[in-house]
Amino acid sequence: MAIICKNTLFLTLIFSLFLVNSASSEVEILLQFKSSIEDPMNVLSGWSNTTAIHHCNWTGVSCTNGGSLSVFSLNLQSLNLSGEISASLCKLANLTHLNLADNLFNQPIPLHLSECDSLVTLNLSNNLIWGTIPEQISLFKPLEVLDFSRNHIEGEIPESIGSLKQLKVLNLGSNLLSGSVPVVFGNFTELMVLDLSHNPFLVSEIPGDIGELSKLEELLLQSSGFYGEIPDFFKGLKSLTILDLSQNNLTGNLPQIKLFLQNLVSFDVSQNKLSGSFPNGVCEANSLVSLSLHTNFFNGSIPNDFFNECTNLERFEVQNNGFNGNFPSWLWSSPKIKLIRAENNKFTGEIPDSISEAAQLEHVQIDNNSFTTRFPLGVGKVRSLYRFSASLNGLYGELPPNFCDSPVMSIINLSHNYLSAKIPEVRKCRKLVSLSLADNNFVGEIPESLADLPVLTYLDLSQNNLTGSIPQELQKLKLALFNVSFNQLSGRVPLLLISGLPASFLQGNPGLCGPGLPHSCLDDNPMSKSSGFAKLTCALVFIALAFVLLVFAFGFYLIRFHKRRSQLGIWRSVFFYPLRVTENDLILAMDEKAARGSGGNFGRVYVVNLPSGELIVVKKMLNFASQSSKALKNEVKTLAKIRHKNMVKILGFCHSDDSIFLIYEYLPKGSLGELIGKEDFNLPWSVRLKIAIGIAQGLAYLHKDYIPHLLHRNLKSNNVLLDSDFQPKLTDFALDRIVGENIFQSVVASESASSCYLAPEYGHMKKATEQNDTYSFGVILLELLTGRQAEQKESEGPSLDVVKWVRRKINITNGAMKVLDPKISNSSQQQMLGALEIGLHCTSVIPEKRPSMCEVVKALQSLETSHLQGLEFCASVDSSIPL
Ligand SMILES: *[C@@H]1O[C@H](CO)[C@@H](O)[C@H](O)[C@H]1NC(C)=O
Ligand SMILES: *[C@@H]1O[C@H](CO)[C@@H](O)[C@H](O)[C@H]1NC(C)=O
Ligand SMILES: *[C@@H]1O[C@H](CO)[C@@H](O)[C@H](O)[C@H]1NC(C)=O
Ligand SMILES: *[C@@H]1O[C@H](CO)[C@@H](O)[C@H](O)[C@H]1NC(C)=O
Ligand SMILES: *[C@@H]1O[C@H](CO)[C@@H](O)[C@H](O)[C@H]1NC(C)=O
Ligand SMILES: *[C@@H]1O[C@H](CO)[C@@H](O)[C@H](O)[C@H]1NC(C)=O
Ligand SMILES: *[C@@H]1O[C@H](CO)[C@@H](O)[C@H](O)[C@H]1NC(C)=O
Ligand SMILES: *[C@@H]1O[C@H](CO)[C@@H](O)[C@H](O)[C@H]1NC(C)=O
Ligand SMILES: *[C@@H]1O[C@H](CO)[C@@H](O)[C@H](O)[C@H]1NC(C)=O
Ligand SMILES: *[C@@H]1O[C@H](CO)[C@@H](O)[C@H](O)[C@H]1NC(C)=O
Repeated sequence: MAIICKNTLFLTLIFSLFLVNSASSEVEILLQFKSSIEDPMNVLSGWSNTTAIHHCNWTGVSCTNGGSLSVFSLNLQSLNLSGEISASLCKLANLTHLNLADNLFNQPIPLHLSECDSLVTLNLSNNLIWGTIPEQISLFKPLEVLDFSRNHIEGEIPESIGSLKQLKVLNLGSNLLSGSVPVVFGNFTELMVLDLSHNPFLVSEIPGDIGELSKLEELLLQSSGFYGEIPDFFKGLKSLTILDLSQNNLTGNLPQIKLFLQNLVSFDVSQNKLSGSFPNGVCEANSLVSLSLHTNFFNGSIPNDFFNECTNLERFEVQNNGFNGNFPSWLWSSPKIKLIRAENNKFTGEIPDSISEAAQLEHVQIDNNSFTTRFPLGVGKVRSLYRFSASLNGLYGELPPNFCDSPVMSIINLSHNYLSAKIPEVRKCRKLVSLSLADNNFVGEIPESLADLPVLTYLDLSQNNLTGSIPQELQKLKLALFNVSFNQLSGRVPLLLISGLPASFLQGNPGLCGPGLPHSCLDDNPMSKSSGFAKLTCALVFIALAFVLLVFAFGFYLIRFHKRRSQLGIWRSVFFYPLRVTENDLILAMDEKAARGSGGNFGRVYVVNLPSGELIVVKKMLNFASQSSKALKNEVKTLAKIRHKNMVKILGFCHSDDSIFLIYEYLPKGSLGELIGKEDFNLPWSVRLKIAIGIAQGLAYLHKDYIPHLLHRNLKSNNVLLDSDFQPKLTDFALDRIVGENIFQSVVASESASSCYLAPEYGHMKKATEQNDTYSFGVILLELLTGRQAEQKESEGPSLDVVKWVRRKINITNGAMKVLDPKISNSSQQQMLGALEIGLHCTSVIPEKRPSMCEVVKALQSLETSHLQGLEFCASVDSSIPL
């Protein structure tokens, strides 16, 4: 296969050389290029030899403006172009820049463009380029800018790329590259941008020779598979401005940075497993704008003086580490700071009143530390602040009247502190959505002005010492959470607040009264002595109760509805394939029209048409939350790494608290099960055998070649999809790893329809085995041989599964030939009998008698090549096994 590819490549090269030599005018060359391109938006309609417009003025064309005009640059980005990038372009002798980014070119890397002698910039970003980067990439000698980002390029980065020594920009981000990154970067002495980010299948250390790139300005390696220590390369990276190593698997300490990074603007090593102390040198040159160390194992304290220089800092993120000591106080009044996130550390210190000087501050999150401070007056003066979150600290004293004065303030969380005195009236923060003051020492009444905040939705005042009654006006608000439990509140609870919210949010207030509470209000209860009147009151109370119940139910419905809506917003997704689609696009596209089949087990399947015209399959499953979101991600990643011609590719997944969407590649022919179910199922034997071999190879790969070894566990002909060439691909594999063992078992047990694919021992053996899969395969093989569905209704009597049907028929008539699909010609009979033997072995009642899938592959392949060998495999037909 590979050899054939190389040969065609060579031929293309020779062919294109020939073309280059044949002289032709630039107009003809451009028209020739246009003729190989599909242009649905007709943007190239002006490219025509019949118009008077000079070709240098055609859309996307720029010429040199020296003495003789000649095409210098072609910029055809974002025009929905597809078709073939033809080699004819290289006849444009002065073509220097070619930008075809943001189109729909669906082909391997166009290697023939290496014949363009002047080509310096090649930008194919965001297309549908697939295949590997070939060794011959080195033929692109003079290239300075190579942008293949956001495509579907897979395989390892070849070492030969090291000979592109002129490169200034190398962007291979957002692809499917795998393996280890070669140590060839020392050669790129001109390199300014290196982007290998978002390649989830890379498993590599960071090559140390990157440290030789003294001109490198941007090093972007985030969200790939880099592990090991960060090499001590900062001394060499003299021009570095942006470093992003986040979301990898890096360990160890940060190397020394001091003084080297004179131009550093952004430093992000977040979400790794780094340890050690704070990198003191990052701000030495005062250029730093963004520093992110969050979610690592850093500890120790941050020296206060370090920051004295860091006046340009806008973003400071050190949350989720083990830092302690005084929080750098200087930062609180830094004029440019916008974001401070330090939650989940052990910082101490005060927030000074001079926070008012941090006039750009938008977001402060310091929950779960040991700050001991008054709530600073200055906070109210920062007009850009929209979130202030400092729960689980030692805040004490009064809340100043201006605490919520920022006109954009939206979230305040001061719960679990020691704040006291009265809660001030709030009027100015009209955008406040969430206010939590729970578990403090507040006294006095609930401020009535809260009812004037139009979008207040979450209000938690629980565990304080509040007194008085709950203001009636609060009923106006559309509260999703209203918790005043464990205070000293008294009096009648506003009806709408009772009906819409769980009673537990009112508990611990012995003085509160109202329907549904332990105490009903005194004036509610004027039970008269007149029995007639009593009856009437009874009836009225009954009606009122019914009404309350109704309102209750409606309230709950509203809350749930609200919850559902808001969950639309918290989808998390991982794409292993550059799908140009958002979660919301997916959700919108997954309607009844897109649904396929009745659902099958574990969830419904949808075929979704992407804006690029690609089709994908989305399987929507319930999220049983049997594992953490991180573990789930790792499991799906494990499955997504499977690359085999007989396995359906997983392109990505999204999950919310409710659902998991698994995104698979789309195969046009549908499933083998559907095919066999058709009246006119009539595939020739050679195709059926090819399908059987493919399935067996897929299973054998899962069982033995893939690390970790996996079991399919849900194999049936409906889970065998066919590509246009009848090559089978297995889908729905190893779902146990996604939903968890218990749920997997209960779903399987509840599905009687697929039970005839389950090995007989499945019910009483706790452990899933390879032999279970082998049995399921045997059932499919028998389906292929007999042309019967695994479970087929007989004209009289109950349905019979194909294994029992075959064994009965062989036992009764003593003639194996009788079970073979009569639609297949006799000339295939020998091979079919051989396959029947294999099928019977695979469906043996005794698990130990079933062959491994590797043996099955070999046996089926030998059938394919020789009629006789097939019969020799397995001496005795295992048809005597009792049913
Ligand atoms: C324009 O080009 C087409 C082929 O590209 C050719 O057949 C035709 O003769 C040309 N017309 C003129 C006016 O050059
Ligand atoms: C391209 O168009 C501009 C203005 O429309 C004109 O000045 C210029 O001469 C044209 N160039 C050629 C080569 O025709
Ligand atoms: C490209 O085509 C898609 C549909 O295939 C369309 O939605 C999109 O708007 C087009 N892009 C542009 C820039 O017109
Ligand atoms: C275009 O390329 C040709 C051949 O390489 C060269 O002779 C010519 O000077 C170039 N023209 C310009 C304007 O650069
Ligand atoms: C390639 O083109 C895209 C789309 O215009 C652009 O965003 C990107 O910066 C270009 N790449 C380079 C290296 O200039
Ligand atoms: C790096 O450049 C040297 C010559 O300067 C060359 O011999 C070597 O092959 C190059 N390395 C790679 C990996 O291409
Ligand atoms: C991270 O590295 C450790 C060992 O260094 C490895 O066991 C683990 O699988 C890696 N995790 C990921 C997500 O690559
Ligand atoms: C940081 O953590 C390491 C290992 O966990 C420990 O050895 C070291 O003493 C800690 N340093 C500080 C300053 O707490
Ligand atoms: C608080 O931070 C510590 C680490 O400093 C962490 O272990 C703990 O889970 C955090 N608590 C909460 C409630 O997030
Ligand atoms: C609540 O306030 C009362 C007096 O108003 C006081 O006796 C009591 O100790 C306070 N409780 C708490 C938990 O602060």
